Amino acid sequence: MTKAIQIAIDGPAAAGKSTIAKIVAEKLGYIYIDTGAMYRAITLKALNAGINLASNEEAGALLTATEIDLIPVEGGQKVLLDGEDVSEAIRSQYVTKAVSEMAAHELVRKRMVELQQKLAEDRGVVMDGRDIGTHVLPSAALKVFMSATVEERARRRFEENKKRDILTPLVELQEEIAMRDKMDSEREVAPLKQAHDAVFLDTTPLTITEAAEAILKLAEERLMAS
Ligand code: DC
Repeated sequence: MTKAIQIAIDGPAAAGKSTIAKIVAEKLGYIYIDTGAMYRAITLKALNAGINLASNEEAGALLTATEIDLIPVEGGQKVLLDGEDVSEAIRSQYVTKAVSEMAAHELVRKRMVELQQKLAEDRGVVMDGRDIGTHVLPSAALKVFMSATVEERARRRFEENKKRDILTPLVELQEEIAMRDKMDSEREVAPLKQAHDAVFLDTTPLTITEAAEAILKLAEERLMAS
């Protein structure tokens, strides 16, 4: 039987995690799980339902009647919220600005972590997020904490948005990213933090291919050792 490992990739917003994680998963023949998409999906539902995003109870109650599915498709994954494809809708600025508040709730995180652990059970997986190495997959064979300067992350997001005809000004993106970094790192439950056994990867000077190769090399080493 071919050996397979779990790979956890954490880091701040727009550090390139999902693009790079997808390549790594594809090369290894593993599944890719974008946990940010799950927090985005529940945030979209909360916004549509008009619930109070500041309330842990209201947010938690919403989740008990919600189904979130990640369907692997070529080049990534499709996100279904109660059966509806929301893959595009969850990337809007409307959702992006609200997601850190929703993701800070203990009840929301508890349900999400259970779901994520179930998805990763007994298989080769590349999972990206903020708390994967610290909480979701604490015994992952490879943990990477990926970052880049705020300026570089905003620039990348700007270029990515342009392709989708989203024209948010660069300074606004920089402010939004810095604000999310702050909220994600300072929240009480499972804050964004490098796991003590994670490898730090600064992607500021790297191309996507170089970053993916660096992780694949580490994965190979861990596979040999497992
Ligand atoms: O990776 P992303 O930008 O799509 O994530 C959206 C938000 O979800 C992010 O601001 C923080 C939250 N998140 C989280 O708290 N824990 C995760 N494992 C993944 C995302």
